[in-house]
Amino acid sequence: MTEIEWWDYDDAGELADAVAGDVQFVIESALDARGSAVIALAGGKTPFPAYEKLAKAKLDWKKVTIIPTDERVVPLGDPLSNVTALAKIFLPKGARVMPIVPQAVPDYKAAGRSADALMQDLHWPLDFCLLGVGGDGHTASIFPGPDFDEALNGPKERRALGVMPDPLPPEAPVARVTLSRASIVSARAVMIALTGTAKRKVLEQAIDQGPSSAYPIGRVLADVELPIDIHWAP
Ligand code: 6PG
Repeated sequence: MTEIEWWDYDDAGELADAVAGDVQFVIESALDARGSAVIALAGGKTPFPAYEKLAKAKLDWKKVTIIPTDERVVPLGDPLSNVTALAKIFLPKGARVMPIVPQAVPDYKAAGRSADALMQDLHWPLDFCLLGVGGDGHTASIFPGPDFDEALNGPKERRALGVMPDPLPPEAPVARVTLSRASIVSARAVMIALTGTAKRKVLEQAIDQGPSSAYPIGRVLADVELPIDIHWAP
């Protein structure tokens, strides 16, 4: 059963400080142990204050590769592009921020195949994965939809795939490329950052329900052995 530890903060600013400090520690540990770090960072809005603080850390950033946990199938520079938002913060530090959606793709499945091929060149498992949680219980871009089962139960060597959420999420109503469940749960460290009581309730239920959860994140985390820190603020 997943070993979960909740870390509660009074506000989003405290959460951002704590998440930034923890991610810095994970990166430093990976650099000490393996001379490099490959980390996957959630998109959306919640974690970006932590990313801004993390970017102030004195790290050997040129040895750090950052990928988004998932990406919207949109061109670089599009306001919906997660990697564009990550690059704005971490490229100036000298980190390698790797787009996972090629620019000219005929369809989202092709985008997923390209992302999977791209990630085969990265050292694996990931050193770290920071996940967000949607109000519907999705994480990364593992949403209900025609590709849900493939994202959850695809072959272990599948690192990423194209998915079409159904219904399309209002905040970004486009196809996605997402890390697979196998990529997420094989990471050396997984952390979740979320805010709000509604999402907390969803995540608590998802963890309690485990593999039969109605919430994607419950299905993703089920049977994960490694301890998972969950950072939460109201
Ligand atoms: C994305 C994210 C997604 C996000 C959740 C929470 O591309 O949208 O990777 O999984 O983490 O939707 O988003 P907020 O932090 O904006 O609530």
